[in-house]
Formats: sequence, C-alpha cells, structure tokens
Amino acid sequence: MAERKPIKQYLMIPGPTPIPTRILAAMNHEMIGHRGPGFSKILGEVIDGLKWAYQTKNDIMVYPCSGTGGMETAVVNVLSAGDKTLHVNIGNFGDRWIKIAKTYGVDVTDLKIERGKACDPKVLEAELAKDKNKEFKAVFMQQNETSTGVINDVKALAEVVHKSHPDALVVVDAVSGLLAADLKTDDWGLDVVCSGSQKAFMVPPGIAAVSMSAKAWKAYEKSTLPKHYWDIKNQKKFADKGQTYTTPPESIVFGMHEAIKIIKEEGLENIFKRHENNKDIVRNAMKAIGCKLLADDECASPAVTAIFPPDGVDAEKVRSEIRNRFGVELAPGQGDLKGKLFRIGHLGYVDKLELVATIGALELLFNQLGAKVEIGKGVKVALETI
Ligand SMILES: Cc1ncc(COP(=O)(O)O)c(C=O)c1O
Repeated sequence: MAERKPIKQYLMIPGPTPIPTRILAAMNHEMIGHRGPGFSKILGEVIDGLKWAYQTKNDIMVYPCSGTGGMETAVVNVLSAGDKTLHVNIGNFGDRWIKIAKTYGVDVTDLKIERGKACDPKVLEAELAKDKNKEFKAVFMQQNETSTGVINDVKALAEVVHKSHPDALVVVDAVSGLLAADLKTDDWGLDVVCSGSQKAFMVPPGIAAVSMSAKAWKAYEKSTLPKHYWDIKNQKKFADKGQTYTTPPESIVFGMHEAIKIIKEEGLENIFKRHENNKDIVRNAMKAIGCKLLADDECASPAVTAIFPPDGVDAEKVRSEIRNRFGVELAPGQGDLKGKLFRIGHLGYVDKLELVATIGALELLFNQLGAKVEIGKGVKVALETI
C-alpha cells in the first residue's frame, strides 16, 4: 500500500514557531480604531509585558516589521556615518548587522568568530584593547545566533565592554534568544535590545520591539544617520500615547497581548527551564544516534540545534524527505553552512513530545537514506532526558 501523505505539520524551525490556540483565538478579532482608547490600552499592556520579558525599566518601542527592522532601528538611531563599531560576529545574523551598518557608512570592525563557537569574553577584551583611543561607539552582538545554534554569554561580554569602553553602547540582538534564555537588560547594562514576535513569544511574525537605555537616548541626540520609518524618538512619541507611528498589525498586537498573559502565567524561570530541557532532549538524542552537532555543549543554544547528518546522508534530502513523509519542517543550514547541516528549532510553542516524534522520524529516515541507525535509540534517550 502506498504511504499516505502526512496529515499534520510539525513546525520544528527556529521561528516562526507553532502558535498556541489561545493566541490564535485572540488574533481572531475584528479590527478596531488604532488611534482610539481600546487599542491604546492593549498596546500599553503589550509594552509593559515586553518590559517584563526584557527585565527592564527602559523605554520599549514596538515597530510593525520583522526582526531585521529591529536590527536596522538599533543602528540608525545611535550612530552617525563614519562612527566606529565593533561587531561580535558568530554567524549569519552577525553578518547581517555588519551589512546593515555598512549600508549606512558606519566604520565596522568585524570580530568574526569560528562558526559553531561563542565569543570568548577574553577575545572581545583583546579586540577592545587594540582600540587605544576608545573610538568604538558601540559593540554589537547576538544573544543567540540562530544560524549556528550558539548562545553568547551576553552578561560576560557586556561586562568586558563596560570595563574597557565605558562610553560605548552595548547593542544586543535578542530576536531568537529572548525568553529562551535569561536576558537581564538593566542588570547587565544592555543599551539597545531588539526582539521579534515570531520566536519564543509564540506569535506570528510582524512585530519587532527595541529597548533604549538613557545612554542610548543620549547617543540618539548625536546620531545623524538618516531615518524616518525607524526614527525611534518619533516612535516613542506615539508609544507614549499607546499608539504606533504607522498603522499597526493589529492582529499581531492582539496575539502579543495574549502571549504576554501566557508567559506571565508560566513565569520566566520556568520558560528558561523548558527551553533548556528541549535543548538537552535534542542534543542527547542526536548524539546517541551518532550525529555530530555544530555547537559544543558549553555554548549550545536553548532555542535551536544545528546537526550534521550521518556520513553519506545529504542534509537537504533529509529536509525534503522528512517533510514529504512525516510533515516535519526542519530548517536548512544558512550562509556557509547551507547544504551541510539541518537545524531543529525548539523554542516557543514546541512541545517535548513533538521533539520525540521528530527524532523518531529522523531515525527512520536516516536508515532509508542509507545510514545504519538503531531505530529507537535516540527516542529512548530523548524520553530519558524528559
Ligand atoms: C538572531 C536573529 N536575528 C535577527 C533575525 C531576523 O529576523 P527576521 O527574519 O524576523 O527579520 C533572526 C531571524 O531568524 C534571528 O534569528
């Protein structure tokens, strides 16, 4: 009998993540006036919830855009053409921030780290020490690098910047890291932090949030890079009235409103633990199967794991076959890693039993594609890790 097409999708990519029914239901809402009191109340509560997730009292502005818009917002609001910046670059999204900064004429230093590794704070310290005249205006970094499945020790890296370059801003892309791992914006002295709705918030893409410290606002006053849509002072003017400058993606805002309730019910510590457990399930199981992982245990991401298929098995074939046979959607390798590995997203609304199912499907597929893998070995380890 011919195999039936899968009837269910398992969305195992690092964003967008599956959406909880409660959030879908909240989004199923008629449009309301976005310059009226009803919407203002909802947006105000979303911004308060974001502050809770960021662990900050800093201003947070919400933009109708994807995460990259948040990254661009961070650049154009605190810098001027010719300013020197240092970019801790551990993957594709590090590359992207460099491209954005260069587009605006920023004088970028690329601290490129071997793919699959986090930035050792000592390496950052040594790079900053080369800048004897303390010319770096800002240091950019990813909290979690989605392309490699690596998490940086943002606290330690920020400490190094503060010690070496007290006037420089610490600018963090927390798009895939926020809520998957701890990020204490105020305690760690993070000046600009951007995030996106489609990751651990479990909401569809459409909103980026950007926080600004008092120091970042001072930098804004000196910044001469061109900006209109991304002008954060203008966005703040509207945020203070419970509005966004442009028409907001209301459905996404309704979704975020419900998401904030859900994550507050769970609590930050429990959310972090859930993501840690997801990471361990995937890593322990894939190692048991005999797959190599790109990231070492010390810097492994709680949000996504990059996995090399067994010898002789093509990573892209794994992705297409697992989609066709089991309805499992995996993420590809990015940049230089394209075609070499696949990634399992385990952030947001991904359940541990979905991870077990994914691991089981991979075991079957690897055998079908010619690798000798003991069926059930990874699944057993995954269940034991739960
Ligand atoms: C770490 C990181 N930064 C930035 C982005 C860009 O976000 P978007 O694709 O929503 O523009 C992503 C998206 O995956 C990401 O993972």
